[in-house]
Amino acid sequence: RTLESLGSLSGKRVVVRCDLNVPLKDGTITDDGRVRASLPTLNALINQGARVVVISHLGRPKGSPDSQYSLAPVAQRLSELLGSPVTFATDTVGQAAADAVANLKDGQIALLENLRFNVGETSKDDNERNEFAAQLAEFGDAFVSDGFGVVHRKQASVYELPQLLPSAAGTLIEAELTVLDQLTENPQRPYSVVLGGSKVSDKLGVIEHLLPRVDSLLIGGGMLFTFLAAQGHKVGSSLLESDQIDTVTRYLADARERGVEIILPTDVVVASSFSADAEHEVRPIESIEDTPFGADGLGLDIGPETSQLFSQRIAASKTVFWNGPMGVFELSPFAAGTKAIADALTRVDGLSVVGGGDSSAAVRALGFDDDQFGHISTGGGASLEFLEGKKLPGLEVLGWQQ
Ligand code: 3PG
Repeated sequence: RTLESLGSLSGKRVVVRCDLNVPLKDGTITDDGRVRASLPTLNALINQGARVVVISHLGRPKGSPDSQYSLAPVAQRLSELLGSPVTFATDTVGQAAADAVANLKDGQIALLENLRFNVGETSKDDNERNEFAAQLAEFGDAFVSDGFGVVHRKQASVYELPQLLPSAAGTLIEAELTVLDQLTENPQRPYSVVLGGSKVSDKLGVIEHLLPRVDSLLIGGGMLFTFLAAQGHKVGSSLLESDQIDTVTRYLADARERGVEIILPTDVVVASSFSADAEHEVRPIESIEDTPFGADGLGLDIGPETSQLFSQRIAASKTVFWNGPMGVFELSPFAAGTKAIADALTRVDGLSVVGGGDSSAAVRALGFDDDQFGHISTGGGASLEFLEGKKLPGLEVLGWQQ
């Protein structure tokens, strides 16, 4: 079910579920990638003369209004990017929203306040979700699901609402799935997956599912220390999930059996504390605790030798998927690893995919342009769960996953 399948939408009210969950600092958007990614579908609807009602969540408020999670700054940014006014409704299904929708003329657009200010959006109770979805359905003659970043959530606007109106996927979901299908169905080889981020426990499913499918798995970020500990290395006070050491040991053995290379760092940057002005040293993985900081030392980035090793492997691959920063890239002394990996991805002669909110924010913060990569996914959890082979409720309900 694509946009075209809905027929002419001229003069119709179309509710569009976007993922406008952008990072904000002091009320200012620090990465507007998700807003930009929503534009093709919104422009297509505006150009057809539809009356467009945009809905989204932002952050994780607890089911009631909370000004720090207001979508107001997003409405302003959306209006700048569209080059036309966006009416902002200060509630989601109350009088302000009803008025905003009723006042829309053909080709105009309104954004309703954060869906998650309403308990019904994320409720575990099917009835509550259905009730909230029914209220949202009042605002539309048709529904377009385009929030790829949230399709893994069984929430009212993602799962129940499409069952109440003629529904289709927007062009962002289509584009994301086209790329992710290439990663799962017939990737060109060599195929490398680079995983970072802080927790190995968030990545277990994807590691397990990808091990039989990839040629090499490169591990960085905070999670690398659980792998090093599984190999018997001391890791000082670095992030460590001791309860995952057995699982990781099994992955290492499994990979050896399958002939898949799990490539671990050979050196890391060890710091005295978690701050931008911390003292720090590059150490081989065998001697992480041999610094003046001893067992208090914290590994906060991969080292230069590892960056080179990973970069060579990445640049020689035909397909690369990358999720998760290599280090604490927000602090400049620990950004080099993430920058090196991003740079290597720009040199891939094939398909390079950056997945996840953190990694995409990282590449933009480090000065890279979106068009230097094959694809930057707007979905973190969603793209990982797709690659894990899971059924995603927001895709299943639209018939995009069987
Ligand atoms: C994301 O940032 O991954 C999506 O917007 C989903 O947000 P959630 O994890 O709060 O559901």
